[in-house]
Amino acid sequence: MEILKKVTEVTIIHHENIAKYLIRYFGKENNMNIVVTDSGTLNPGDLSWDELKKLGECHIYGNSTQEETIIRCKDAQIVVTNKVAFDKQTIEALPELKCIAITATGYNIVDIETAKKKGIIVMNVPVYGTKSVAQMVFALLLELTQHVGHHNETVHEGRWEKCDNFCYWDYPLVELANLTMGIIGCGQIGMATANIAKAFGMKVIVYDVYTDHLAGKNLEVVDIDTIFTQSDVIQAVR
Ligand SMILES: NC(=O)c1ccc[n+]([C@@H]2O[C@H](COP(=O)([O-])OP(=O)(O)OC[C@H]3O[C@@H](n4cnc5c(N)ncnc54)[C@H](O)[C@@H]3O)[C@@H](O)[C@H]2O)c1
Repeated sequence: MEILKKVTEVTIIHHENIAKYLIRYFGKENNMNIVVTDSGTLNPGDLSWDELKKLGECHIYGNSTQEETIIRCKDAQIVVTNKVAFDKQTIEALPELKCIAITATGYNIVDIETAKKKGIIVMNVPVYGTKSVAQMVFALLLELTQHVGHHNETVHEGRWEKCDNFCYWDYPLVELANLTMGIIGCGQIGMATANIAKAFGMKVIVYDVYTDHLAGKNLEVVDIDTIFTQSDVIQAVR
């Protein structure tokens, strides 16, 4: 295939738009055979695959088992996966494969070494859902400090009305201001979380195996022991 000539070595390419990057690496006119293995996890129907469909024959499956993946991707040059794994055995069973495009940040679902040996490009999305994950960290944290769901339910059951005094609560309400959040692995998500923590008035300390990217970010970088001894709450994401 013509498209293969451009692929000289394996690369992990960070993309924010699969179709755009496929065109960049493989050209527009190559009539690629594309298989989306598990569209359901990312796109249950509210997003469009039209840009991908313009690039060739495009088969879109809601989900695929490992066995189905090998059968469905037999002739595919490009596979698009969210959670379906492309391990050594699967990659080796797909002779036409030239690119694995992951519609997520983590690429641990792909055997990178095998992809590398076979000259297969692996793409991922580095900032997928960063703000949402940071928001979820605080959704969970606020559940622990405020128990909003429990209070909502029990107030509806009449517990506040039956309370002896005006101040009905089952759990102490914990104020985040002045507490310390320790962040282990301070990349995209860690920094987004740090910003929210600071907005709550929390003190933030961070630990990362690499620290160059933290310079000038106004974050207190500490060692791992300090994280465990000084933090009131710890986020670990890497
Ligand atoms: N569930 C979701 O929707 C979702 C969305 C985005 C990312 N993620 C996952 O969250 C994780 C982090 O994403 P990100 O965008 O912040 O990645 P990132 O690469 O920007 O940040 C990860 C940080 O962790 C550090 N790190 C790696 N190993 C470490 C270790 N052993 N000790 C301390 N620090 C270490 C890295 O140096 C880096 O700074 C990834 O695993 C990703 O797959 C999940």
